[in-house]
Amino acid sequence: MVEPWLARLDAEWLDAVERVERAGQAHPWSRVQLMGALTDVQGSVWGIGEGQRAESGLRGFAVLSRQPFDAELQAITVTPQARRRGLAARLMTALLDEAKEWGSERLLLEVRASNLAALALYRRVGFGDDGVRRGYYPPPAGRGTGAREDALLLSYPLTGHSR
Ligand SMILES: CC(C)(COP(=O)(O)OP(=O)(O)OC[C@H]1O[C@@H](n2cnc3c(N)ncnc32)[C@H](O)[C@@H]1OP(=O)(O)O)[C@@H](O)C(=O)NCCC(=O)NCCS
Repeated sequence: MVEPWLARLDAEWLDAVERVERAGQAHPWSRVQLMGALTDVQGSVWGIGEGQRAESGLRGFAVLSRQPFDAELQAITVTPQARRRGLAARLMTALLDEAKEWGSERLLLEVRASNLAALALYRRVGFGDDGVRRGYYPPPAGRGTGAREDALLLSYPLTGHSR
């Protein structure tokens, strides 16, 4: 099997990132939000792809932001056809490496309690549970009249001092 490629993405990748986001997310970020992430000097967007290192090869991406002490995972999406091949796990490794380079103490994230695939990914990578934010998210797509949903807060220690 050919190794997937990993790269930091800039604004030139906007169309490809938007395509992946629309294909893969129930609640996709808007083009403006994606452009904001791609041009944010306080963060980075990492992409992973198969085959050509070009727009057509992009299979997934993740958005990392730099906070005063910690780094935060803002989003991660892999196209449905490319799932369960380890692409998101590889993206997470790139994010953890970059957050370490920044000197961040932890990588933080929040996730819908019902998002079992993402939770399995994060726990597999080594994230631990920090708590719950009750009713944080609007009802899941397609269940518009349902109750709001809890966010689970997870973190990964990067310095050895915080856990
Ligand atoms: C969550 C997501 C990014 C995972 O991407 P992926 O490339 O399929 O994940 P990987 O192949 O790297 O999975 C790594 C491990 O995570 C776990 N995992 C991932 N998806 C899983 C699923 N659907 N069910 C159970 N475990 C899962 C497994 O332990 C897996 O290892 P394995 O395949 O050897 O068992 C992908 O499902 C996705 O894009 N979902 C929609 C967007 C989303 O919910 N993003 C997160 C919140 S913003």
